[in-house]
Amino acid sequence: MSEKTFARSVAMAVAAFTATLALSQAPPAVLTIHADQPVSAVSPTLYGLMTEEINFSYDGGLYAEMVRNRTFRADWGGIQYWYLLEDGNAKAKIEVDPKTGPSEALKSSLKLEVEQADPHNQAGVLNVGYWGMKLNPNTAYKGSFYAKADSGDLGSVTFSLVNDDSGKVLATASVASLGTSWKQHEFTLKTGAIQASAGNHLVLSVGHAGTLWLNLVSLFPPTYHNRVNGNRIDLMEKLAAMHPTFLRFPGGNYLEGDHIPERFEWKKTIGPLVDRPTHPSPWHYHSSDGLGLLEFLGWCEDLKMQPVLAVYAGYSMMQERVKPGPDLNPYVQDALDEIEYVTGAADTKWGAVRAQNGHPEPFKLTYVEIGNEDFFDQSGSYEGRYAQFYKAIKTKYPDLQLISTMPLKGMKPDVQDDHFYVRATQNFKDAMHYDKTDRNGPKIFVGEWATREGAPTPNFNSALGDAAWMTGMERNSDIVVMAAYAPLLVNVNPGGMQWESDLIGYNAMKSYGSPSYYAQVMFASHLGDHTLASKLEGAGPKLFYSATKDAAKKRLYLKVVNASSTPQSLEIDLSGAKVASAAKLVSLSAPDTQATNTIDDPSRVVPVESVLNVPGSKFHHTLPGYSIQVIQLTLK
Ligand code: AHR
Repeated sequence: MSEKTFARSVAMAVAAFTATLALSQAPPAVLTIHADQPVSAVSPTLYGLMTEEINFSYDGGLYAEMVRNRTFRADWGGIQYWYLLEDGNAKAKIEVDPKTGPSEALKSSLKLEVEQADPHNQAGVLNVGYWGMKLNPNTAYKGSFYAKADSGDLGSVTFSLVNDDSGKVLATASVASLGTSWKQHEFTLKTGAIQASAGNHLVLSVGHAGTLWLNLVSLFPPTYHNRVNGNRIDLMEKLAAMHPTFLRFPGGNYLEGDHIPERFEWKKTIGPLVDRPTHPSPWHYHSSDGLGLLEFLGWCEDLKMQPVLAVYAGYSMMQERVKPGPDLNPYVQDALDEIEYVTGAADTKWGAVRAQNGHPEPFKLTYVEIGNEDFFDQSGSYEGRYAQFYKAIKTKYPDLQLISTMPLKGMKPDVQDDHFYVRATQNFKDAMHYDKTDRNGPKIFVGEWATREGAPTPNFNSALGDAAWMTGMERNSDIVVMAAYAPLLVNVNPGGMQWESDLIGYNAMKSYGSPSYYAQVMFASHLGDHTLASKLEGAGPKLFYSATKDAAKKRLYLKVVNASSTPQSLEIDLSGAKVASAAKLVSLSAPDTQATNTIDDPSRVVPVESVLNVPGSKFHHTLPGYSIQVIQLTLK
């Protein structure tokens, strides 16, 4: 190569390098924050949870029951998730007996007819659980069942937990004998020094010929706060980390049902499990109703959340509705009863029922939502239905804040529930959505929202869209009083998901948070109580931020979202405020928008915490491409 050619090559390489540098870093932007100029209040209840039975959120999810189809429902394929067991030369058959059951609510049962069995050749049934049953070492599993036998000489009933692969019995217990009338029996299965696994099943067997009837066969692992009939510990811990301030329940579509008789009938979800008939849900599987009204309230208690109670308002999703007027009165009364069950003293009619169900103390209730997504009611009957519920509830409970599920023409609701399911690009464009909202209008509850990209759980592009959207909600949190991502939970097994992009995924063995989950945790853990005057200059269209202050803790929270692939250099001017030199930086970033977490790789996109050196009230900070960051500054 000649000297000239070499010089030209070097010049070209330098030019190319410089161009790459210019391309890979956006021009610096300037963010000025006036720490001494509060603008508007941030609602302390901004972040909460929305929940319903979807994606096996409760059965096969949060609700810790291990036995699937514990009430022996059958379809054309047989008794779902239960199988006949005939060891050696044992002979038996099973069928659903519609003529006998342990209660008015559970009128049928599983009939097990054993023609031949002995202690070494047992007959019985096995249950495969919700895609397996997780067993931990040295752990007690509490079981119970209702049963009766045709005679007293059937002998004992044995329960065993058996590993699917090895056939090894990992725990066993016996119930001495059954009577000839329906009775509940209890047992405990204790594992030894086994290896934790989910490939296990439950076996119920007898070593004697005879007939027995069974229902409500149940098995629970240790639960969160040791609640009887309680929740899965790992999922509750993940929810607790979100610092939720409220729980909107029981839906969603699950409140309404496809048809009126399939709505969430709260009175059928309280009291002993044997008195709960179970019901079909709109998400194509049957609900055990083990997680019923009082369990929702217990969940609120456990995570110190306030209930946001949605009451059925006379509309079900297949365009079935109850006409406002006399026809609707029984439904209005049902809602009044429900509110009394939640809030009434133990000497009120429904407060007494709650006390009898084990919770004498009333719960505090501020918000009641009338229905769900009533804009789908093509008859336009919601105005009338809302007004009727409003009048009746306000007459008895004037302090309750009543939420409408759509904008109303005839009256101003206390709060209006808005729902948004969008792609990331829409959230980038719409992060200003509430900037111009009339402050005299109803308060806003964003009762369901999510960026929907990625399945079963959202990917990093979703997290970027979510974070951009959250900066907008925080900035407008004087009017946006509450917000909840939806759906919250998904069982990631095949057939577990009915709705793509759900915040937390799990199977029987373990659970994980999506990138969107971590964005939620980061935002809710650094809320602040008011927004600050601020200005962003020179930034591209994909840079979003929120600046809030926690006056009591003397902290300034700066959340910055760089949804662009290129790093963003930022001059941050705290406009004269004195801040400690060591700030906390929490950073969530990914090399690509499609990066995500999965059940087997749960930590690909997780927040990383570090110390950020802040030399003075003006400092320079570079945001990586595709990043969500929280900077927590301590004010001096
Ligand atoms: O979150 C999933 C569904 O989306 C809810 O059940 C319904 O309210 C909305 O349409």
